[in-house]
Amino acid sequence: MLKHKDVLGLRALDAEEIGEILEVGLNMKRLLRRNIKKLPHLMGKSVITLFYENSTRTRCSFELAAKYMGAHVVGIVAESSSVRKGETLIDTGKTLDAMRSDVMVIRHPVGGAPELLAKTVKAHVVNAGDGMNEHPSQALLDILTMIEAFGSVEGKKVAILGDLSHSRVAKSNLFGLTKLGAEVSVFAPSTLLPAGLDRMGAKVCRSREEAVEGADVVMGLRIQLERQHAGNFPSLGEYAKFYGVNDEVMKYAKKGALVMHPGPVNRGVELTSALIDGDTSRIEEQVLSGIAVRMAILFLLTKEEI
Ligand code: CP
Repeated sequence: MLKHKDVLGLRALDAEEIGEILEVGLNMKRLLRRNIKKLPHLMGKSVITLFYENSTRTRCSFELAAKYMGAHVVGIVAESSSVRKGETLIDTGKTLDAMRSDVMVIRHPVGGAPELLAKTVKAHVVNAGDGMNEHPSQALLDILTMIEAFGSVEGKKVAILGDLSHSRVAKSNLFGLTKLGAEVSVFAPSTLLPAGLDRMGAKVCRSREEAVEGADVVMGLRIQLERQHAGNFPSLGEYAKFYGVNDEVMKYAKKGALVMHPGPVNRGVELTSALIDGDTSRIEEQVLSGIAVRMAILFLLTKEEI
């Protein structure tokens, strides 16, 4: 059972809670591999997904996770909801709370919005990505994928490369991986490198090669195409050439190092197509881990009430 009412980020969870989610997630993944998609864990519960930003993976996998465990599921996209009529987040939350929803899964462009919602509603709140803050379920699914490959992440080296400035995925991974004993090295163009990552436990590197040296896992992060116009890098072609991950860069990693990416990926920019589709890629595996870890989160949050 989790100690918190909500899952807002991995900064707030301790290693024991993270471990519990991963353990249940691994069991859920075993069931999914056997194509078992009818479980009773959330029978009679209502799960609402509330997305103020675009999503394919996160929204779909939270909704499938809830449905596979027997919940009633409603998906709300802000664009087609009363948000468009000016309703505030708090009023939307209170309205959904009044409908006796048990869990609200929220993605919002503003960091801290899930925390505000969590303080307002009785339902459990799960952060599905808030601004540049955190994306806890993404990091948990990434770590689960690594644990499946290695047995544990303790002592493993994970290199994270890409747009660190705007990445909630990188921050959540940094919190989660370091709490579980992994070493995290990071590299980004200086215009996409925020201050303070070293204080959060990362080894901040000066080159792709330094970051990837001896890595067990190399994770690319999405370049947000809209940022290109902010002048953070000259062109996608130049980004790929000077900052992207390719076979030459992977030679610095351990032999057979895993290639990961949270998606959606810009093919040929953050990673070459050959790496995305290669034998060491775990990108599709991450997607299946996503359903499993979200099943674990939903189950553990509502478990005490069953
Ligand atoms: N990785 C991730 O959050 O993907 P979506 O934006 O498709 O949900």
